[in-house]
Amino acid sequence: MSCAPSAHIPHPPVRKAVFPIAGLGTRFLPATKASPKEMLPVVDKPLIQYAVEEAYASGIRQMIFVTGRTKRPVEDHFDTAYELETELERTGKHELLALARSIAPDDMSCVYVRQPRALGLGHAVLCAQELIGNEPFAVLLADDFMQGSPPVLAQLLGEYQRSGQSVIAVMQVAREQVSSYGIVAGAADHAGVIQIERMVEKPEPELAPSNTAIVGRYVLTPSVLHELRDIAQQALSNPAHTGEIQLTDGIARLAATQGVRALPFAGTRHDCGSKLGMLQATVDQALQHGELKAAFKQWLIAKAASL
Ligand code: UTP
Repeated sequence: MSCAPSAHIPHPPVRKAVFPIAGLGTRFLPATKASPKEMLPVVDKPLIQYAVEEAYASGIRQMIFVTGRTKRPVEDHFDTAYELETELERTGKHELLALARSIAPDDMSCVYVRQPRALGLGHAVLCAQELIGNEPFAVLLADDFMQGSPPVLAQLLGEYQRSGQSVIAVMQVAREQVSSYGIVAGAADHAGVIQIERMVEKPEPELAPSNTAIVGRYVLTPSVLHELRDIAQQALSNPAHTGEIQLTDGIARLAATQGVRALPFAGTRHDCGSKLGMLQATVDQALQHGELKAAFKQWLIAKAASL
């Protein structure tokens, strides 16, 4: 079948975003033993809030969280904090009150579904299938800290509206890092958007078809759920299967049937699932923070000079 983008067919709107947050966060132990990785702050805001704000700024209002054990603080974060709000109101701290209330705007809905065991990102998305229904949806990995203007997800949605196909965010990585990512290859159009022809999960550098890596923002058509169900059924009925259900396997099947586009987004990305990435994101964010940037920059320059 042809995978050419269908520019003139009206494409169903993307109204829902899925946030898979049921992973174990082992790279951040001991911090993540009893607390969610997604609640780790970059300066003063938890990772998950940055991702939810990105989805909201991109026009999405229904947020679906795939949670697991130890993830209750995420639910509390997006709920009303009655005692806190009453106290801030009583003491006249109106700015802080507005800040606390802005975390969950009135027109945003949050729903939660559990992934009983961390069987992989594809399995996590599958846990949300009833809530997603038969419509296109976004997936955001909160530990991929991504900033762009317009927001990275909005860039993907623009490409989805143009092509009607699933769209995933990609970036160039160093050759020696390809084995940490899903890698794509295919023909790029005049705007640099790649029509995916090959996808390989975590290849050895010498076997990688490119160094174009998939990072944590996706806009997917609902057919991916069908592919994931099929993959999960095969895997879970095979007693020898011990691996995870990968989202990229579902997307690879979609690339072969409906077509998938890979968008080299404009913006920055830090891997906040790793300690180094978290430190880099923190420095970047502190250098943009209204209250902190001047003092922090001064300290950073002095620190760098002393190294
Ligand atoms: P990662 O592999 O980066 O996260 O998954 P992790 O498993 O939490 O962390 P480490 O590797 O043990 O340190 C990417 C995203 O997918 C979610 C994670 O929560 C993270 O946001 N995920 C992963 C799930 O929701 N369920 C899974 O079974 C696996």
